[in-house]
Amino acid sequence: MAKVLITGGAGFVGLNVTEALLARGDSVVIYGREPLPVPAAAAFAALPGQLTVILGDVLDDTALRAAFAAQPIDTVLPFAAITAGPAREAENPELVLDVNLKGLVATLKAARDAGGVRRVVLPSSSAVYGESAYAYPVLTEAETPCVPISLYGVTKYAVERMGMRLSGLWGLDAIAARIGATFGPWERDTGLRDTLSPHLAIAQAALAGRAIVIPAAPLPAYDWIYVRDLAAGLLALVDTDTPGPRVFNLASGLDWAPLAGACCDVMAARFPGFSWRHAAAGEAATVSFNETRPRGVMANTRAAGLGWAPRFIGPAAYEDYAAWITTRADAV
Ligand SMILES: NC(=O)c1ccc[n+]([C@@H]2O[C@H](COP(=O)([O-])OP(=O)(O)OC[C@H]3O[C@@H](n4cnc5c(N)ncnc54)[C@H](O)[C@@H]3O)[C@@H](O)[C@H]2O)c1
Repeated sequence: MAKVLITGGAGFVGLNVTEALLARGDSVVIYGREPLPVPAAAAFAALPGQLTVILGDVLDDTALRAAFAAQPIDTVLPFAAITAGPAREAENPELVLDVNLKGLVATLKAARDAGGVRRVVLPSSSAVYGESAYAYPVLTEAETPCVPISLYGVTKYAVERMGMRLSGLWGLDAIAARIGATFGPWERDTGLRDTLSPHLAIAQAALAGRAIVIPAAPLPAYDWIYVRDLAAGLLALVDTDTPGPRVFNLASGLDWAPLAGACCDVMAARFPGFSWRHAAAGEAATVSFNETRPRGVMANTRAAGLGWAPRFIGPAAYEDYAAWITTRADAV
């Protein structure tokens, strides 16, 4: 049974990893600045694992140390982050650096001093590929140059390199997950992630029975990963004892642009009043897909070597998401 501490665990990815860990009976400490959303607290109470929620800042060394001291921890997921868009980067670059980098150092230090930590899973991102995502059709961990553009992407590359370095110096075993663009259950606006997925906007429109206009066809190539697949991939990184590469793409490895219509059709079949169409030439979309240029897909053969494979692609992901928002409309 793993004993996991997740900083930023009440955020989108953290809630999904917590749910997957609790479902298999692991114990989880969520450490972060926000409380567990009420619907998540209700859902998680029914799971076999044990959950503790501790409110605190990753920049507060004393509170972090107290969180590690409260119970034995063998695995750390330092996921607290500011996912800044251009406006926040320009206005408050210090906050992005402080939380994403100094917060990581503080968390790793507390883990080192607590003792007993076996594994650290570092939250990197497809954003580390930056310019390369527009230059290469397939992005691989070993061969594709990392040329991050955004301050967020720069910090995520530093999370990998700095996290590996400090973990090595401090006797912690770190693995980095280059997480692809993610959507699905528990995604919501935390106020700290400036670009939410179009799938959340589609889910909200479906629940409200609204018509939407998505960008004109063809949409640019874009690799999405459904968050349940991401959570399963992160658990594989928690569990693996295989020596070898320490950086793993976690993405579907597929271009979802041709699947957008079939995905929206799933919502249209389930939610009366919801309809969708592509924008006509010159017409503005009501749901932004966050990208205008085609991006390469992220190869996931390394992670497949751990026995992991994405299960929810396109309409299959939407079937699951539609069922989830039907029962958890209060969380969307
Ligand atoms: N969602 C994605 O598509 C995606 C893609 C690639 C990488 N990631 C990475 O996954 C991790 C989780 O991202 P997410 O999508 O769940 O983001 P999120 O914004 O939903 O969650 C981030 C969490 O961190 C907490 N937090 C922020 N500042 C804090 C501080 N100073 N002290 C303590 N807690 C703090 C927030 O309160 C929130 O609960 C991040 O490291 C992110 O870079 C996410």
